[in-house]
Amino acid sequence: MSRGTFYITTPIYYPSDKLHIGHSYCTVATDAMARYKRMQGYDVLFLTGTDEHGQKIEDKAKAKGVTPKAFVDEVVGGIHELWKLMNISHDRFIRTTDDYHEESVKKIFKMLYDKGDIYKSVYKGKYCTPCESFWTESQLVDGKCPDCGRDVVESEEEAYFFRLSNYSERLMEYYTAHPEFLEPTSRLNEMVNNFIKPGLEDLCVSRTSFSWGVPVDFDPKHVVYVWIDALSNYITALGYGNDKYNDFDKYWPADVHFVGKEITRFHTIIWPAMLMALDLPLPKKVFAHGWLLLEGGKMSKSKGNVVDPVVLCNRYGVDALRYFLLREFPFGSDGVFSNEALINRINADLANDLGNLVSRTVAMVEKYFGGTLPKEQTADAIDDALVEMASGLRDRYEAQMEKYAFQNALMETFKVISRANKYIDETAPWVLAKDEANKPRLARVMYNLLESVRIAAILLTPFMPDSCEKIFKQLGVSGELTAWESAQGFGKLPADVSVVKGDTLFPRIDMAKELEELEKAQAAARAAAEAPAEEEKAAVPGVAALIDFEDFAKVDLRVVEVKECEAVKKSKKLLRFTLDDGMGGRQILSGIAQWYKPEDLIGKKLIAVVNLAPRKMMNLESQGMLMSAECSETEVKLLMVDSSIPNGSKIG
Ligand code: MSP
Repeated sequence: MSRGTFYITTPIYYPSDKLHIGHSYCTVATDAMARYKRMQGYDVLFLTGTDEHGQKIEDKAKAKGVTPKAFVDEVVGGIHELWKLMNISHDRFIRTTDDYHEESVKKIFKMLYDKGDIYKSVYKGKYCTPCESFWTESQLVDGKCPDCGRDVVESEEEAYFFRLSNYSERLMEYYTAHPEFLEPTSRLNEMVNNFIKPGLEDLCVSRTSFSWGVPVDFDPKHVVYVWIDALSNYITALGYGNDKYNDFDKYWPADVHFVGKEITRFHTIIWPAMLMALDLPLPKKVFAHGWLLLEGGKMSKSKGNVVDPVVLCNRYGVDALRYFLLREFPFGSDGVFSNEALINRINADLANDLGNLVSRTVAMVEKYFGGTLPKEQTADAIDDALVEMASGLRDRYEAQMEKYAFQNALMETFKVISRANKYIDETAPWVLAKDEANKPRLARVMYNLLESVRIAAILLTPFMPDSCEKIFKQLGVSGELTAWESAQGFGKLPADVSVVKGDTLFPRIDMAKELEELEKAQAAARAAAEAPAEEEKAAVPGVAALIDFEDFAKVDLRVVEVKECEAVKKSKKLLRFTLDDGMGGRQILSGIAQWYKPEDLIGKKLIAVVNLAPRKMMNLESQGMLMSAECSETEVKLLMVDSSIPNGSKIG
């Protein structure tokens, strides 16, 4: 019988690059919790997915010469493969490019607008024209664009805003009434002191400077900007505002959102305020986990220090990696990942403690009893310590899991495993085996060991599902005897159990040798990820990558004549050109204001790319690009051609 519903989510991941082990960390934790709740008898919905819109994706796709959708489709394909490899048991996978999600986001945006929680205003910030990006003062590096290092200009753009400032009081009231809402609780103080107390500002929720997003359906030159689109996934995936699913009443409010600590603010301030504005209940809990760091700091592709989970899974098996991630680091704190720590943990806990216990016990039952224990067994007072510890294990484990303390739940379980190993030394079965009269006593010793292993394996199943399945096979148990219910107490295993010897579960690793080989494998994986594809390689260093003639032929270059030219208001860089292109004329914006007076350019013949997709800059459309030469780092000149060449002549 179901104990009720349990709705748990991971953040939706940006499919801008391959996912690394930091991303796997959160997903593995969510998976372990979902599996645990299913075993307990809950009707679980485990949601994960991808957050696919925004300028960054649009830019990456452009750089690769593919559409944004084709770009994300490829990366998302890889994410599906990774989750399959890591044995992630999500029930639903949402992509923010899914039609049903987009339909719901449009409705949510409109509802908030109709209620007055979203309003139109002007977004002001620092704008980098070549990157077409707005930055806040604090994001700038030495006053320049953090992406390209060029100058930024004060600029503004029409945008929609969410009235976040209206919700400070209600949020404070909610936190006070529900102190369990955010964990670890220390993060709540951070939210209150750093954000709520200084005063919440309204949030910009639309953009006109890029187009890869959900259009605002009543004002389609705007796309919904990031967080309204992304956060809504938790309810659109249940069918809120769409007909794809019909589970909103069943699963909402979510039992827990697992999120990385840097996105706590979005989940505990913006998301609750959005839900309040929509008159919807708030999630019961947000758990903000720490980061996996490398010795040099947070993993990031640009630092070249990402760890690829695929390499580790292929070498040690997915269960060893899953176990390590949740055993090594307390879930709410940061942890430093190292290859050495991983190998140590595998050797100490999995090969020595658990693996050895299983293989020794099964081997002894085969050796002394031909694989099947006799029913006649004799207990002894020396058994009590192990029996007591194993029979109370499920309760102690559960108490930790309910607090999302994965590390403690695993430590409790491994205390029983260590105790069972010690029990082998205390009872010395090889001595008992010497005398036929001791057989009933020896049988009881074996039984206690098998039963302790069985209970531990049930509780380890959410963490290492495949390995526990192998343990159950060796113990000769299935069905009820592997279920949550039968991990309570001690003695549910039938006395005359039959075991079947299996392969070594976790082979011991030679640290020195393996460290060297692992580092080589990781370096090779990094190099493969960095290496440009054959067709992207440049023939001469410093020269752009080779392209085919067909690629070159795609660029339509024409001679154009400048009819009008003026500076763009509020921009130090841009000139607006009205051009005769021999085809009816066009407008192009070019960032060369620094080098020319507009009036000097009237009548000049220039070269323009006329089939470049139109782009918006400073709210004006640029229908192509004027060719210029970078004469030096400080000087750019437009390419001018002979005045006798007719306007619109094709260049090739
Ligand atoms: N798309 C947003 C989330 C929107 S949720 C409505 C996002 N995506 S992300 O791909 O950048 O990050 C997804 C999650 O991965 C975040 O919770 C982040 O904390 C986590 N991790 C990324 N690197 C990490 C580590 N090195 N360590 C642990 N988790 C980290 O944010």
